[in-house]
Amino acid sequence: MEDFGQQRGGVRIAVIGGDGIGPEVVEAGVRVLETATEVDGSPPLSFTRFPWGCEYYIEHGRMMPEDGLETLADFDAIYLGAVGWPTVPDHVSLWGLLLPIRRGFDQYVNLRPVRLLRGVESPLAQPGTLDLTVVRENTEGEYSDAGGRMFSGTPHEVVIQESVFTRRGVERILRYAYEEAKGRRGLLVGATKSNGISITMPFFDEVFREVGEEYPDVGASLMHADALAARLVLDPESFDVVVGSNLLGDILSEVTAAVSGAIGIAPSANLNPERDHPSLFEPIHGSAPDIAGEGIANPSGAIWAGTLLLEHAGYPEAGERMLAALEETLAGGTRTSDLGGSASTEEVTEAVIERLRSH
Ligand code: IPM
Ligand code: MN
Repeated sequence: MEDFGQQRGGVRIAVIGGDGIGPEVVEAGVRVLETATEVDGSPPLSFTRFPWGCEYYIEHGRMMPEDGLETLADFDAIYLGAVGWPTVPDHVSLWGLLLPIRRGFDQYVNLRPVRLLRGVESPLAQPGTLDLTVVRENTEGEYSDAGGRMFSGTPHEVVIQESVFTRRGVERILRYAYEEAKGRRGLLVGATKSNGISITMPFFDEVFREVGEEYPDVGASLMHADALAARLVLDPESFDVVVGSNLLGDILSEVTAAVSGAIGIAPSANLNPERDHPSLFEPIHGSAPDIAGEGIANPSGAIWAGTLLLEHAGYPEAGERMLAALEETLAGGTRTSDLGGSASTEEVTEAVIERLRSH
């Protein structure tokens, strides 16, 4: 694996705390990342903070500066908290910051691994049984700005938004998913909806089968996303890798995150696999305005996202140790209230750091 960290003498990380609980959880993650690389003897990480988000928007009328992407392009990775605050419409804040980064840096893979960690109770799965990854297309599909609104505010108002599925886009995400399955237990389920969505989804199915011919050892099947959602709830242990379009992958990955016990734990890696641009790492959860600033947010999702960052940067062992320290902390009973505990963000973070130091 290309080791950009060592080449440049340390991994350079752009930190965007963002909104709500974003800054709290991401700063917790930064401290754990610093400790993990320090005890591991890996080259130090360097962090540069950018105060972009909804407050920045209120002040400057933009979520990030005009040359924001150019600034970020110099970094090895981006570590993001959460985007969104009630004073700014969600589609404005997201299309002003997170979504342009995903697209501008061609982060076409959104990887969302799910495991049931010890110390976390799942409503549905048995401890030690759940281990699956959702591969979500991250730059096209249903998240498109092709469309428009005509005759606004009149009785014959017309609103159209087109889904965009390109052969290149569908092929590359499916190939990534087949590769991921090949490196795991060899099972791949494609999320489709070709019974109802009669143009783009049959195309997705077609390419799924085509690419599958290159992977005779992967057990691959297609399932309609509605039935798949039900099976993810009823029988989550039977899955290895699930691949889906931008919207279907979004919804299904949050179902799997919830099945693993809490949305506050699940991480997400927005990858540009070719490494032409920086990749972005973030927790799956949102900015949670209701608990922002109280110091009680669960830092687990941000910490786990940090382990994915280390893996991508070429330090998988440090990442594994970090995840193990998080799991031991949760199993040891230091948990935030969303997991039935009473610990603060700070207490969970300190406990993870202490475990890393004592190993
Ligand atoms: C996610 C989020 C975003 C998405 C929103 C906030 C635009 O839900 O990362 O899963 O749908 O991609
Ligand atoms: Mn989502």
